[in-house]
Amino acid sequence: MKPTLDEIRARESRHVLQTYKRQPIAFVRGSGPRLYDVEGREYLDLVSGIGVASLGHAHPGLAAAIADQAATLLHTSNLYYHPLQGEVAARLTQLSGLSRVFFGNSGAEAVEGCLKFARRFWYTQGVRTRTGFVAIERGFGGRTFGALSVTHDEHYRAPFEPLLGPVTFVESGDVAALDAAMTERTAAIIAEPIQGEGGIRPMSREFAEAITTACARTGTLLIADEVQTGLGRTGYPFYFQALGLQPDLVSVGKAVGSGVPMGATLVSARVAQAISPGDHGSTYGGNLLACRAAAFFLEQLMDRGLLDHVKAVGAHFERLLRTLALKHPVIVEARGAGLMRGLQLAIDAMPIVDTARDRGLLVNRTDEKVVRLLPPLTIEAADLDRAVDILDGVFAAVEAEVHA
Ligand SMILES: Cc1ncc(COP(=O)(O)O)c(C=O)c1O
Repeated sequence: MKPTLDEIRARESRHVLQTYKRQPIAFVRGSGPRLYDVEGREYLDLVSGIGVASLGHAHPGLAAAIADQAATLLHTSNLYYHPLQGEVAARLTQLSGLSRVFFGNSGAEAVEGCLKFARRFWYTQGVRTRTGFVAIERGFGGRTFGALSVTHDEHYRAPFEPLLGPVTFVESGDVAALDAAMTERTAAIIAEPIQGEGGIRPMSREFAEAITTACARTGTLLIADEVQTGLGRTGYPFYFQALGLQPDLVSVGKAVGSGVPMGATLVSARVAQAISPGDHGSTYGGNLLACRAAAFFLEQLMDRGLLDHVKAVGAHFERLLRTLALKHPVIVEARGAGLMRGLQLAIDAMPIVDTARDRGLLVNRTDEKVVRLLPPLTIEAADLDRAVDILDGVFAAVEAEVHA
């Protein structure tokens, strides 16, 4: 007999380290943008496993590719060649304009790779004084020590200090602070083109230009953290392209494996030249299973019209959300690009998340007062209509309660 929600929760609470505050729901099955819980209830999913299920759930083509790979060969380590790393790396370099790819298994690892390769770049030049990093307030790079060191939230950092340093945080948009922080002791500046965990906050074009200028003035390397924005989510292959930035390093995660764990660090030619065998490594990184999933996803994105689809439905989504924001006073602003959207509220977003879930819609809270919307890239306009309809009712209900 299948376990009930209560049984699943009881067993987890006994045996799983309690690092997550989960919502009271357990999923067992998915199909496209829909998820089904243990009780058989259906949900429209505008979270996508935090931007990971880029092809939706149980995509038949992806499932067939993964099954075929599992029945052929899953893993051989990086001691040997296999045919798929080069194929995926060629796609990623073509999309980004960068030169080479290092494969890891998560976003945090991709950021770690960026930080390590930036330091290695200067070490190779014989410059031992350029070890510092500049990062952005509200930025999020992940939970490993290096990635955590360029994550701004004090709550995540404080229990684990001392972290990697020196790191100077500057407010996005504050050009004077940026100029003061960027010196000839800075190895690299790391920035998300649209901050994800920080509340779906796009970098302004002016600030992007100031970063380019400061990098040119000091020779500092630029790391674009595209773990959340990358690979089509915003309607661009990468959002640094929309901002006119030219990074030396780019971190990739989430969408690339469509649910099979993968991360990647993309590097420019000059950084690639500074790296030698043995400088970095990963047992699993770029194994056949992850590469097969990534190859399938990238084919959909580049050759099967997925990027154009995101552009079209992303514009539709923006119109729907702007109309929703005009209708509900509690929504202060609708932000984002493509299928990466946030609603800035005047109130805590949790009641919206909870009420939406009760009505069969999954959305997520970030930065306390922001409702984050990251649907699968394959979602159709009719499902976005349905989702925003549900949200309309949810906001009306929560507003009625706020005013009661
Ligand atoms: C911009 C950014 N960088 C890095 C990470 C870390 O990725 P992961 O959780 O896969 O380690 C995240 C995760 O949300 C992210 O949004």
